[in-house]
Amino acid sequence: MPSWMTVTSSPVGRPTRGTTGTNRLRRVDRWIARHAALRRATDPLVVDLGYGARGVTAFELEARLRRVRPDVEVWGLEIDPARVDRARSELAEVRAGRTPFRADARVDFARGGFEVPTPAGRRPAVIRAFNVLRQYDEADVHDAWARLAPRLAPGGVVVEGTCDELGRVSTWVAFGPDAVPTTLTVSLRLAGLEHPSIAAERLPKALIHRNVPGEPVHELMRALDREWDRAAAVSAFGAEQRWRAALQGLVETGWPLRQRSRWRLGELTVPWTSVAPRG
Ligand SMILES: C[S@@+](CC[C@H](N)C(=O)[O-])C[C@H]1O[C@@H](n2cnc3c(N)ncnc32)[C@H](O)[C@@H]1O
Repeated sequence: MPSWMTVTSSPVGRPTRGTTGTNRLRRVDRWIARHAALRRATDPLVVDLGYGARGVTAFELEARLRRVRPDVEVWGLEIDPARVDRARSELAEVRAGRTPFRADARVDFARGGFEVPTPAGRRPAVIRAFNVLRQYDEADVHDAWARLAPRLAPGGVVVEGTCDELGRVSTWVAFGPDAVPTTLTVSLRLAGLEHPSIAAERLPKALIHRNVPGEPVHELMRALDREWDRAAAVSAFGAEQRWRAALQGLVETGWPLRQRSRWRLGELTVPWTSVAPRG
């Protein structure tokens, strides 16, 4: 058990760099907005765990999700108390109507860690933890997942992932209350994309050190580049068509791709079992 897990009286985890940015998490937010865990939730409480140095990604999450669930509530949690204070002053600005966000945005902030404290002990439909585990050790991942998962409402989902500073390269793992991962999603800005394997630099912590020969995720990255190169001729019809052709190539070589309707967004989703680390 990692040392940070033994502290039970304070939030579970440890503060890390707070880098965040406007619009950085748009790709994963769009995915969450379509997810049944949100759409069918009895209580659409969504936790933004580790929102960072500013509360902006929590406000954006609420703004995006309220289009499909007007009753959504976003509960931003940060382990660093100074960041909670900062987000609360930003919230005051929002309430005063001095920001682009709605003054009545259903967002609030509190201090918390992997134990996921919520108002009145409510169980979230969604926990988004982005760029949080990246700064932990690989060995910590499963303990963190095991903490998060049982906090979910039945049918809920944890979305745990990583992206680059501008949100052009993003990947995430999804799992439900049993903490067993179900899918890996890669989402890329296709315009100007040279090699889709750029995603390897931003894989979730559980996979980032597994991009080595013999590991399934490495095979996926190689296959993706191969099919992307093979589809080069299609780029005359645009990057989206090239991406579709590359993914079709993956399917034809046996990769069990899911969510075909989302290919146009620069996404690909595979079952976790097809990329799970060996050993
Ligand atoms: C790099 S920032 C990510 C900010 C934002 N989620 C984003 O992707 O732009 C990571 C944040 O996670 C916080 N953090 C780390 N471990 C945490 C934990 N166990 N519970 C809550 N917050 C945590 C850190 O304090 C830091 O502010």
